[in-house]
Amino acid sequence: MNIDLTEEQRQVRDLCREFADQELKPNARKWDETHHYPAEQVKKLAEMGLMSVAVPSEWGGGGMDSVSYALAMEEISRGCAGTGVIMSVNNSLYCDPVLKFGTDQQKAEWLKPFASGEKLGCFALTEPMSGSDAAEMRTLATKKDGGYVLSGAKNFITNGPQADAVLIFAMTDRPKGHKGITAFLVPATAKGFVRGKPDDKVGIRASGTCSLFFEDVFVPEKDRLGKEGEGFKVAMATLDGGRIGIAAQALGIARAAFEEARAYAKERKAFGQPIANFQAIQFMLADMATEIDAARLLIWRAAALKDQGVRFSSEAAMAKLYASEMAERVTSKAIQVHGGYGYTKDFDVERHWRDSRITEIYEGTSEIQRVVIAANLLKE
Ligand code: CAA
Repeated sequence: MNIDLTEEQRQVRDLCREFADQELKPNARKWDETHHYPAEQVKKLAEMGLMSVAVPSEWGGGGMDSVSYALAMEEISRGCAGTGVIMSVNNSLYCDPVLKFGTDQQKAEWLKPFASGEKLGCFALTEPMSGSDAAEMRTLATKKDGGYVLSGAKNFITNGPQADAVLIFAMTDRPKGHKGITAFLVPATAKGFVRGKPDDKVGIRASGTCSLFFEDVFVPEKDRLGKEGEGFKVAMATLDGGRIGIAAQALGIARAAFEEARAYAKERKAFGQPIANFQAIQFMLADMATEIDAARLLIWRAAALKDQGVRFSSEAAMAKLYASEMAERVTSKAIQVHGGYGYTKDFDVERHWRDSRITEIYEGTSEIQRVVIAANLLKE
């Protein structure tokens, strides 16, 4: 068994680490405080091929693999978790499904400019009254004159305030339940498309999130992604990949907190010596490092399976479940190592703790990951 990275994978990891250290880490606290969207840095990520790491270069992407994507997400999120999720939504939740389910004509229009980073995409599944029970959506797509008329509301949409297009899921045949859901691509310029005001979030505050309203938006038939009634499968398959991205985001957040806790423990003195000399602190650091490595291995396994083209739903769910819950434990311990200072805004560990919390909720809560894992276990 070989878990060595290839030369290309090491290069992308190092490039992202350097970028995070120079461009993200020094700004992340300020962006968090001001809810600032890092447009300039997102443009630079696009220039490095990171807004669509695993999309082939013929479609404007980075032409790398899913393991490289996980490495990039870890490093970027270590620098700024908000920037990490802007990148992951465009990569996994927008470009990936258009690549997988789109026709060549759709890819030319709806993938190329988004993969190259000229435009930004978002994914609209969640609604005010349907989150975990995604198939309970109320947004309707009614057939009319060579297309569909969309009406309804979506909420908690990451990249919603900035997106140029939305991959949206709507009911074309409500009595059929999940088999009546269809996916569509809608430009933000469409008549009747309205954005809500940005949400004031606890963490990942550099990324924009808002509700989206569809007030009789006409979508031509050519902009339907996949067949009628296949939308739920498009959403589920997309989320499998998305969960690798969020797991890697959680990993990056945890690593940032761990590295800061280790540095602080070596500097801070108590009882006449650095607190790193005490086993109480050493054991915390040892547990943090072990959990970080365990999460990374689960993420790499899921990403490698995705690259092999086999079903990886359960492995992605395990990676996300473990990495997100690990990130909350590790960031909390990092606060503990910092003592009272960790509970102030003078240090970054409180931000990492706030940033970690959402990774246990979006792209499927921890409870949903357990549902997915258990369903797969019981199939055997
Ligand atoms: N790939 C392909 N098809 C899949 C699939 C997958 N991973 N998972 C399920 N399916 C198919 C099944 O095969 C089944 O097909 P058939 O009817 O043809 O047999 C169909 O989908 C229904 O499957 P289930 O019966 O398992 O569906 P369910 O209704 O019981 O729900 C669920 C499954 C796992 C709970 C699902 O609803 C779910 O994942 N919910 C969570 C939703 C979620 O993650 N939302 C996140 C929003 S996006 C977000 O957060 C983005 C952001 O802003 C960052």
